[in-house]
Amino acid sequence: MSMTTGPDALRSHAARLRGTPLNALLAQDPERVRRHALRSGPLYFNFARQSYDAVAWDALLAQARSADLAGAFRRLFDGATVNVTEGRAALHTALRGQHSDAAIARAAFASATEVRQRMAALIAQLEGTGVTDIVSVGIGGSDLGPRLVADALRDPLPGRFRVHFLSNVDGAAAQRTLALLDPARTAAILISKTFGTQETLLNGGILRDWLGGSERLYAVSANPERAAAAFDIAAERVLPMWDWVGGRYSLWSAVGFPIALAIGFDRFEGLLAGASQFDAHVLDTPLADNIAVRHALTAVWNRNALGHAAQGVMTYDQRLALLPAYLQQLVMESLGKSVKLDGSPVDVDTVPVWWGGAGTDVQHSFFQALHQGTQIVPLDFVGTVRNDDPYAENHLALLSNLLAQSEALANGQASDDPHRSYAGGRPSTLILLDALTPQSLGGLIAMYEHSVYAQSVLWGINAFDQFGVELGKQLANGLLPALRGETEAKDPVTRALLAEIAARN
Ligand code: F6P
Repeated sequence: MSMTTGPDALRSHAARLRGTPLNALLAQDPERVRRHALRSGPLYFNFARQSYDAVAWDALLAQARSADLAGAFRRLFDGATVNVTEGRAALHTALRGQHSDAAIARAAFASATEVRQRMAALIAQLEGTGVTDIVSVGIGGSDLGPRLVADALRDPLPGRFRVHFLSNVDGAAAQRTLALLDPARTAAILISKTFGTQETLLNGGILRDWLGGSERLYAVSANPERAAAAFDIAAERVLPMWDWVGGRYSLWSAVGFPIALAIGFDRFEGLLAGASQFDAHVLDTPLADNIAVRHALTAVWNRNALGHAAQGVMTYDQRLALLPAYLQQLVMESLGKSVKLDGSPVDVDTVPVWWGGAGTDVQHSFFQALHQGTQIVPLDFVGTVRNDDPYAENHLALLSNLLAQSEALANGQASDDPHRSYAGGRPSTLILLDALTPQSLGGLIAMYEHSVYAQSVLWGINAFDQFGVELGKQLANGLLPALRGETEAKDPVTRALLAEIAARN
């Protein structure tokens, strides 16, 4: 990497810009707002309230070029082995469109299309059965994406199917979910890429027993034989996925079955079309105007040049309230890595803590810390221009709050009273959807997926494995016999806790 790019160059730009208020950057450059506004279909982004100036931005772009981000995207879409630690492709883009001539990508697209047709047929069949409620059982990537999209796009009154999500191994979750349902009018979908996930196997068993058998059980898995055998589910009700789809990138596959049930198959296809449209933007747009690239470079700037250890996403649309939870898995499971592709330690910090919530509620809880706390937390604000509810005044109030928060954080306000003064200089990206539709939501999620991938390339890490979650799972399995009193734990703290549990139980 040359002297003009790389972490040191970015840090020197950050040092040069320290003390330059965000509104001074705007005053220096009348074109700034326009140059930092980008659109793709129904999605508008404005990065003018990020703290890089034109020179720092050029250094960031140079980093994107030296990492060959354009080539990296091409390799992703062409089905190259981007998941090097597991030796496979990550072809989630082939689940929603055909953007590659590579044989592996074409085959993936064909398989995905075929399975989607099977899914449509299963939905049509279910419509005639008197089933009104569906329990979707899965966790992590087999839960968060479908849960977000189904919640965001469902009508205020449930349509033909009410879809409920059950993820946690805590039996209270199953008890509460089932308490309101009638087994005679309920079907369940067990979703697990591996079909080896403790939570889903236990909850699947609860559902099978509660339903009185497997007749109204469906499964989605990359291990369909295991799924069918474990729960005695007829092969026609088991939909496959593939090892080339990562769990957290899988909502476009049959993992989206609950989405299609909640919002209708046509609208599910609209979601895929919106994502595919954004895929085309990523492939066809030069790096400088590429939204996913700009989002990724902004993340690198905030993390590596400015050292910010957290990143927030605030949704000013109640229907997107689950977006932060979904993004936490997408971003933190993908980028929470300390070693590069070759196993050597990374040279810079990787993922910050991602968190967030829905405005305006968040303003009345933790926004105090964002305005006056000692740590700066860069934010993504996500809002929707068109209102779909009957309460127009509320929508204006919602939008006025979104605009005001970003402005207050950026510009601050001086006061003689230190308790009443706002330092400002707190960056945010503004994201506006023309309206919340399947297309715009598909595009938004695809944007985040591509930004995550671009960040992984810039950091030289693998966005598609998640070995970090394995140790805890192994230990939990090993502790089950100890909880039953059959064995002793090795760790002294765990031993003390087990004794406490045994004494109080
Ligand atoms: O524990 C993490 C994880 O492996 C995620 O990556 C995955 O989305 C989730 O568990 C569920 O896995 P599965 O779909 O195989 O049940």
